[in-house]
Amino acid sequence: MSGHSSYTPKTGFERWLDARLPIVRLMHDSAVSYPVPRNLNYFWTFGGILMFMLVAQIVTGIILAMHYTPESKMAFNSVEHIMRDVNYGWLLRYLHSNGASMFFVAVYIHIFRGLYYGSYKAPREVLWILGVVIFLLMMATAFMGYVLPWGQMSFWGATVITNLFSALPVVGETIVTFLWGGYSVDNPTLNRFFSLHYLLPFMIFGVVILHVWALHHVGQNNPTGVEVKNVQKETVPFTPYATIKDLFAMVCFIFVFSYFVFYQPNFMGHADNYIPANPAVTPAHIVPEWYFLPFYAILRAIPDKLGGVIAMFAAIAVLAFLPWLDTSKVKSMTYRPVAKVMFWAFVFVCIILGWLGAMPAEEPYVTYSQIFTALYFGYFIGLFVIGLFEKPLAMPTSIADSVLGAMPGGSGSRMASATAAEPHAKG
Ligand code: HEM
Repeated sequence: MSGHSSYTPKTGFERWLDARLPIVRLMHDSAVSYPVPRNLNYFWTFGGILMFMLVAQIVTGIILAMHYTPESKMAFNSVEHIMRDVNYGWLLRYLHSNGASMFFVAVYIHIFRGLYYGSYKAPREVLWILGVVIFLLMMATAFMGYVLPWGQMSFWGATVITNLFSALPVVGETIVTFLWGGYSVDNPTLNRFFSLHYLLPFMIFGVVILHVWALHHVGQNNPTGVEVKNVQKETVPFTPYATIKDLFAMVCFIFVFSYFVFYQPNFMGHADNYIPANPAVTPAHIVPEWYFLPFYAILRAIPDKLGGVIAMFAAIAVLAFLPWLDTSKVKSMTYRPVAKVMFWAFVFVCIILGWLGAMPAEEPYVTYSQIFTALYFGYFIGLFVIGLFEKPLAMPTSIADSVLGAMPGGSGSRMASATAAEPHAKG
């Protein structure tokens, strides 16, 4: 996909600049003439939505930081000050807190899209792994951001999660002391979390650039999973086709986002976080934000602390190995009858794990969590095994065939039958 450029500088200045820093050429080749498969569906608009959300989080975050005080005795009140005294402070804060949730909604759709259409398979392994790195950075950023308002859930969430590192043999205690900057979650912890919460989004931004670079190098996958063979017939230029579609999807997404910001701003949060942090009082149930719940369920499913930590990190790390764990040559689950059922079962397992993560750590939830944790990892083993035996359905030989309807061995193309049907429809 990358390589030849279709940019021709028109004015004298453009030619001058192009010979010195071909930045307009870069932008033209990646956002205007870049060829995208013509059969992409709306699931391919979430990458653009994610970029929008990343920028929105950075902008609202920078302005919030102008009014926030990262000091344990003032943090909670400074957030209340933002909500009550700062002009549109309530809006900024609700955009940022709900924005984090919406960012995760979009990233989960983006990831599951990749899982369904096999976008992680060759030649997109590096693109996928960079995605997993982004996902990890996003989780670290969100976790540290949630600590900043210094409410009860902030404090106790930070205590529970940082304490997990103490399970590591030999170095565990040292790591925890280092993370805390002392012997408990306190002001130094808040300071370093604030500093890292400010830094990490820019690191995410850097990895996103690599992610998109890798994408533009290998080209987009598409719903058939069949690679582009004829650029002329099977692709359309990014602008206006993908740009306008991405913009439309973004506006729809913003409507949903706005609904939460303006009508349900605390729906995705926890009421206990409106109580100032108190190291002497433990909340009845310590629950993380919804987007961490499936991983929290996996953590608690294992009775041993170290085992739980390993299982939780393995649940994310396993994604990075997916390109090699899935042994099928066929990318899109549309043509994989068994894997498709497994995929939907996996979606169900993740939802149930999310529910279990919100339940108290007692029976029967612990047993359920163990069963569903096993099923979660079972998906990856299943993909490995199924890929060796599964007989795929008849596939289009090319994107052009898929769009125009000609199937191998078929008696007629969909295009042909549609044309034949037209006189009847009219008559
Ligand atoms: C800040 C977060 C992210 C941003 C801004 C981002 C951005 C993008 C963009 C713009 C695209 C092209 C449009 C599209 O296919 O939707 C894309 C594609 C892709 N992304 Fe991401 N991404 C992010 C996170 C992730 C994560 C967490 C993963 C996986 C773990 C991932 C995996 C992929 C894959 C495999 C593709 C290629 C899809 C295909 O062509 O079928 N991305 N990403």
